[in-house]
Amino acid sequence: MPEKKDTQRSGEYRMNLEAAERLTPDVIPLHRAVMREMAEPQDGLEPVPVWLILGFLTLAGWAGWYIASNSGGFAPDQYNEKAAFAAVSAEAPKPVDPMVLGRRIYNNCTTCHQDDGSGVEGAFPPLAGSEIVAGAPEQLAAILLHGLHGPLRVKGAEYNGEMPEWGSKLKDEQIAAVMTYIRASFGNNAPPVQADLVKQVREATASRSQPWTEAELRQFRLGG
Ligand code: HEC
Repeated sequence: MPEKKDTQRSGEYRMNLEAAERLTPDVIPLHRAVMREMAEPQDGLEPVPVWLILGFLTLAGWAGWYIASNSGGFAPDQYNEKAAFAAVSAEAPKPVDPMVLGRRIYNNCTTCHQDDGSGVEGAFPPLAGSEIVAGAPEQLAAILLHGLHGPLRVKGAEYNGEMPEWGSKLKDEQIAAVMTYIRASFGNNAPPVQADLVKQVREATASRSQPWTEAELRQFRLGG
């Protein structure tokens, strides 16, 4: 009976199929672990994670605060790599050695009085061993401030020249420094001169516009 046979055959077939299905393992649960552990990367317009935004804002805020509190107001003199050095030199600014400054100022004088202060016979009187250089500092300051002309006797020799004024070109400290220098050089040994004395002489002789003569100079006293 072909029909019966057919029915029987299809019944067998179904039974085979079911058996096969039972034997075949289910792939989805099998792959579930793999799919969970290694998610495939996806691309797309995903929003930036909130923690990243917050982290960035925190960092930017901290950086701003750090700059604001460590920039010294952005003043040009604030940044100093060698702050330790600066602190030391700011506390005790090294005063300029008047002998060093004086030697530099003395370069203005060497054409006439010579490097060693010996002067030029008959033309420029010596500073080495000069009574005027080692004498009353206010008179020396007066010469430097206003100049000197006419007959002059230095170390027993006669001169009659023109010593230019320096009051309009040099500051009190510079004049004091060159005075200190010539008083302690070329074998001279007179005490140093302070800028304050030069200032006083400058004020006391402010009305003078001509160089001194020797006679005028000998009478000049501070406060007298
Ligand atoms: C252009 C030349 C010239 C220059 C520069 C010059 N002097 Fe004189 N100086 C003279 C002459 C000249 C006399 C003498 C003036 C006189 O005969 O009355 C003199 C006199 C003096 C005297 C008094 C006399 C003595 O020998 O002690 C002193 C101090 C002096 N000069 C210091 C200086 C100093 C310091 C400088 C530099 C700042 C200087 N002179 C620059 C020409 C110069």
